[in-house]
Amino acid sequence: MRIVFLGPPGAGKGTQAETVSRVEKIPHISSGNLLREAIETGTDTGAKARSYIEKGLLVPDQVVVGIIKDRILKTDCKNGFVLDGFPRTLLQAKILDEMLRTLGKCVDLVFYFVVSEDAVVERLSGRVMCSICGANYHVKFVPPRKKDICDKCNGKLHQRADDKPETVLERLKVYREQTAGLVEYYRNNKILKEISSDLKIEVISKNIADIINNELKKQKKTKVG
Ligand code: AP5
Repeated sequence: MRIVFLGPPGAGKGTQAETVSRVEKIPHISSGNLLREAIETGTDTGAKARSYIEKGLLVPDQVVVGIIKDRILKTDCKNGFVLDGFPRTLLQAKILDEMLRTLGKCVDLVFYFVVSEDAVVERLSGRVMCSICGANYHVKFVPPRKKDICDKCNGKLHQRADDKPETVLERLKVYREQTAGLVEYYRNNKILKEISSDLKIEVISKNIADIINNELKKQKKTKVG
């Protein structure tokens, strides 16, 4: 199953993508994580992306498309993936469709995370992540067992540079101007599922799982028929 998570910054896409990845045994591909890894390891892609991310702007399409294409072509994606943070522009969406078409595949489901801006600001201002394994926490909603220490690997937790209040406002503006239009694109393709993300993490996970299971049943029926 090939799944896309679409929604504003801080909507909970990464949190839910981790769960879907674990349950469905498909890789979680986060464009943001791939770009941050590229910055950390000092690649050319990282050098091109850094200033955009720091300002809360979108990294140019050709830079992001390159790393996503490379990732999707890896063998662990043959049974599907959950894409988190990509596509973010109409051009990215069309390139993804075309790339999958040449592989004889398509995007099966797009989850659109609907959340209030107040919730986004509260979530991002309290988010901390592990500097070693990248695990995400929230000081109030998903606190680590020990303050500032990752439960999984004992790494030190830090705030993402682009989670500063002024950068969050810029990211929200960029989302409204450049990404929100994708909702219509996928609605027209009849694969869009709206998910309320103002709920508890476990409730959202259950709602997503129900939709995925229904889709899997439908696909099974079509194959049998
Ligand atoms: P990216 O890393 O993709 O950031 P984003 O889309 O802004 O999303 P976030 O990671 O901020 O939020 P999320 O929705 O995953 O929420 P999370 O689950 O972490 O992109 C960063 C930058 O990279 C971009 O600004 C851009 O520069 C560049 N970039 C990336 N992709 C690109 C692309 N395709 N094209 C161009 N540029 C690109 O949750 C947030 C917090 O809330 C956490 O602390 C979590 O614990 C908590 N939380 C989650 N769910 C709930 C809940 N239900 N209730 C309470 N708390 C919750």
